[in-house]
Amino acid sequence: MVKITFIQPDGSQLVVDAEPGMTVMEAAKKHEVPGIEAECGGACACATCHVHVDEAWREKTGGPSEMEEDMLDFAFDVREGSRLSCQIKVTDALDGLVVRVPEKQF
Ligand code: FES
Repeated sequence: MVKITFIQPDGSQLVVDAEPGMTVMEAAKKHEVPGIEAECGGACACATCHVHVDEAWREKTGGPSEMEEDMLDFAFDVREGSRLSCQIKVTDALDGLVVRVPEKQF
């Protein structure tokens, strides 16, 4: 099991269990993390699963692909650590991952 911490805009935290092979978005949906809408179901076509990856984890998650970057143009409050959580695959190396949920998705 891989633990992922989602920090809400008000500072509250939710730690969820994820399995390697699923995406960070799927882990969020499974545990009903508020603020992750994921309208397109993980097809990199909606940008409503946007998160800010904590600085300490950016190297491990890597940056967005070109297609993801194009989609992020539609997201709200895009920052340096912005990723679409449906494009982050959970691996054992991401155990302890911390991401922040933006104030809104669009
Ligand atoms: S769920 Fe739609 S882009 Fe991630």
